[in-house]
Amino acid sequence: MENRAQFGSRAGFIFAAVGSAIGLGNIWRFPAVAYDNGGGAFFLPYLFALLTAGIPLLILEFAIGHKYRGSAPLSLARVRRGGEWIGWWQIGISFVIATYYSVIIAWALAYTYFSFKLDWGTDTTNFLIADYLKVGDTASMGSFVPGVLIPLILVWVIVLAIMYAGVKRGIEAATKIMIPLLVVLFTVIVIRALTLDGAVEGLNTFFKPDWSTITNGKVWVAAYGQIFFSLSIGFAIMITYSSYLPKKSDITNSAFITGFANSGFELLAGFGVFAALGFMAAQQGVGVNEVVQGGVLLAFSVFPTIINELPGFQQAFGILFFVSLTLAGLTSLISIVETYIAGIQEKFNVSRASAVTFGAGLTAIISLAFATQNGLNLLDVADYFINQFGVAMAGLFEVIFIAWFAKQLKPLQSYADSVSDIRLGAWWRISLSIITPVVLGYMMFDNLRQNLV
Ligand code: PHE
Repeated sequence: MENRAQFGSRAGFIFAAVGSAIGLGNIWRFPAVAYDNGGGAFFLPYLFALLTAGIPLLILEFAIGHKYRGSAPLSLARVRRGGEWIGWWQIGISFVIATYYSVIIAWALAYTYFSFKLDWGTDTTNFLIADYLKVGDTASMGSFVPGVLIPLILVWVIVLAIMYAGVKRGIEAATKIMIPLLVVLFTVIVIRALTLDGAVEGLNTFFKPDWSTITNGKVWVAAYGQIFFSLSIGFAIMITYSSYLPKKSDITNSAFITGFANSGFELLAGFGVFAALGFMAAQQGVGVNEVVQGGVLLAFSVFPTIINELPGFQQAFGILFFVSLTLAGLTSLISIVETYIAGIQEKFNVSRASAVTFGAGLTAIISLAFATQNGLNLLDVADYFINQFGVAMAGLFEVIFIAWFAKQLKPLQSYADSVSDIRLGAWWRISLSIITPVVLGYMMFDNLRQNLV
């Protein structure tokens, strides 16, 4: 126990936690989810979800990791017998996510390279699907796609190097450089996007509130879903990271900083993406609402099109955008991988190096399957599976276990208060014992119902 790895400082821990939270979800998921669920009006349920679930759960996970000083399975087992399997389940989800999250980062690296010569041409969707990913290309059926395989190997070399270097000299050192760099690069992009023709129209479309959505349960579920995914809650990540936090660190304050930094970046991305969409719509003479996209197509098809149409500095804009995507992804990927490195290390009592070789090595090998010609289909399946059966359930069991089964909210509240200047009130316990379980339970049954009918 005395030899447990530690972050050098609380700031280092916050960089790592913020690095985990800020990921692809902030850039390509949030803007589209907000737009689809009421635009400006979405900010009300979103803020509500942040304050009644996001930050309370972050505080909870920070308190568990900090107090019990173990990976998620070990910490939860120390809370009360029977908790271990919840931790392993969360680790299992993280493991699966890592196998395909790494592949998307590899695409972003490849597209950074394509940016130098705008290799994607004018039909960017066709380039992505047919030329780059080789979907439907029968001649290369079942074989690797070199354009994905090579950057994917590079991603794993970087991740393995960071993981071998350890918590302080690897994760902390890397995120301390990558997160500030990401914020600077991304801010440059957003400023450029905001000064393009049509940007204002884009922002008007984004922020125009549709208040009729406020009474729709689906909108609230979308808000909570975005908060859970975006803050990396229920994935064993935040418990693991906080177990490396020096004793006597203010965890409540750290949770507020992490939560607001993540939402701030999300808002920044909303501005940037919609300003750029507004520009594209103006160029094409169509309404902004006709070009709204999220996910893979937003990043790898719509953005290349926007880059094509820019009045100048196209390459620079492309490189900045895809490097940002790469950095945002990498700092999240290392946080998911750390969950099972910590778990393996403790469960089998092996060195960090062995756990990295085995755990991260296995993920790297499995991820190669997504670098084949059938990779995109596999990725869709894995992502669907995780969203339907993973996210809501793992978080739900965690809060029910802590709040109702182990009845540890009060002790954990005193624990958090003992290291913090901020006092947690009834707000914190009500959020975790009632609001979060109700929302997550609803989410889970809604998912199951959609899958069963
Ligand atoms: N929080 C990350 C994002 O917004 C996503 C993520 C989820 C990362 C789960 C790791 C684990 O993209």
